[in-house]
Amino acid sequence: MSATILSGKEFAEAIKREVAAEIAALSFKPCLAVVRVGEDPASAVYVGSKVRTAEELGIISEHRHMPAETTQAELMRVVNELNSRDDVDGILVQLPLPPQIDEREVLEAIDPEKDVDGFHPVNVGKLWQGQRSLVPCTPAGVIEILKRSGIGIAGMNAVVIGRSNIVGKPMAALLIKESATVTICHSKTSDLAAVASQADILVAAIGRAGFVRAEHIKPGATVIDVGINNVTSEDLARELFGEDEIDKRLNTIAKRGFTLVGDVCPKDAKAKAGAFTPVPGGVGLLTVAMLMKNTIEAAKARRG
Ligand code: GUN
Repeated sequence: MSATILSGKEFAEAIKREVAAEIAALSFKPCLAVVRVGEDPASAVYVGSKVRTAEELGIISEHRHMPAETTQAELMRVVNELNSRDDVDGILVQLPLPPQIDEREVLEAIDPEKDVDGFHPVNVGKLWQGQRSLVPCTPAGVIEILKRSGIGIAGMNAVVIGRSNIVGKPMAALLIKESATVTICHSKTSDLAAVASQADILVAAIGRAGFVRAEHIKPGATVIDVGINNVTSEDLARELFGEDEIDKRLNTIAKRGFTLVGDVCPKDAKAKAGAFTPVPGGVGLLTVAMLMKNTIEAAKARRG
């Protein structure tokens, strides 16, 4: 039997409709400031999507694009200005930042009440204590997919592959909050397949194209793919995609030079999982929708 595909599109559209309805009921327009430094091509795409979606939903957006040579002091001045402005409800500094910038100092400078990424230590601490806080958008989106698909989390074995501050760690905190039994795996985990294949819910967030194969997947598991990787090799594409999709993917490589692949082998997920999220068209769409939700949460909390 072929696994169910958990398409992010309908969930993201539903969340965006809910956010738009909430905004329409407010007496003011929330404002999101997005800061991008340098010319990372993926960041340009992500930020474009964040700014466009904000505008579609009636959120005022301010895009600050600073040059790659920006100094720490210049970036800190922008963050401090956005902190002090009453009209700005949410601040997001897109990562990665250029090497001369101390990322931690920047993220810690953002007012926790405006921290729509949920990366500030105050929000991280609140999340782990189970307090209400602004929660990182990608893991929050994963929880929405599970809940809106009717997949039970309480009592399930959940395995998260990846221990990043952006996805792996907050993902584990949110799954614990939902009463899953949670294990985090990473590059030093011994016999990762033995651990992963115990998971009822498997979340892959490692940044390696098609890393999760059949031996990592428990039959019938829900597999959530957070990875977004560019695959340029036709041979790797042939390994990862089944007959139903390979022609389309090879065409994309021929036309654009690469195809987008997650951290999970889609052919194996389709054959062995109960349900899985596709790439593209899965978790990524939820990340942007959850950012919009965080922006109105921050706006409502600030403006009462
Ligand atoms: N870079 C990759 N993902 C993210 C994210 O969720 N937020 C920010 N600020 N940068 C990112």
